[in-house]
Amino acid sequence: MRAVAALQSRFPERAIAMTEAKRLAAEKALDYLEDDMIVGVGTGSTVAYFIDALGREKHRIAGAVSSSEQSTARLKSHGIDVLELNATGPLALYVDGADECDPHKCLIKGGGAALTREKIIAEASETFVCIIDPSKQVDVLGRFPLPVEVVPMARSLVAREILKATGGQPVWRDGVTTDNGNWILDIHGLSISDPVAMERELNQLPGVVSVGLFARRRADVVIVGGEPPTLL
Ligand code: A5P
Repeated sequence: MRAVAALQSRFPERAIAMTEAKRLAAEKALDYLEDDMIVGVGTGSTVAYFIDALGREKHRIAGAVSSSEQSTARLKSHGIDVLELNATGPLALYVDGADECDPHKCLIKGGGAALTREKIIAEASETFVCIIDPSKQVDVLGRFPLPVEVVPMARSLVAREILKATGGQPVWRDGVTTDNGNWILDIHGLSISDPVAMERELNQLPGVVSVGLFARRRADVVIVGGEPPTLL
């Protein structure tokens, strides 16, 4: 959202096109909806369009599992039942956005600080459909700072270990507390040539709750918004 706002003031026409691309990607994701499904729902401005589209189809679905308080509020505002993952069991479909997407459908996520619940729902879902605008496509992940959710008492320990392990610069997202009561470090200056290996390595650091690399469990389908939307 911050990036969109910044672009909007500098390049109003391009920012409006980007917003429209998000909406087009979100609407296309309805193609994956099946009757009586419980749908896993991510977080962010692109997903907000998906939730609004889902609201129009709510008679077809049995409910949703939400990845954040923000998405829960929007789902409920449309009269969609929000269910607990522990009660639903595995899901057929998860729809979520991303901050970056490489050609192998590996993602950076967590710009909205919802990465941990997003990762849990992605893991629990048979098909992960990722909806993005074209600005999210990169050849190599890392231009967008990589979010890592940490237990608060481990913040400086994890920051030092991240610096040693990756050479990137961890920056505390000051003032942000996740829905799980944790903090976020954003790692700047990375060029992630092996996302699976980096995800594994960072996951092992004590104090790390989750890493915003979605590489081991990456997207199954990526919809890039446009006229018409394209599929990866
Ligand atoms: C939320 O924590 C993120 O993983 C979002 O999926 C990501 O930041 C994409 O957000 P936008 O759709 O707002 O760009």
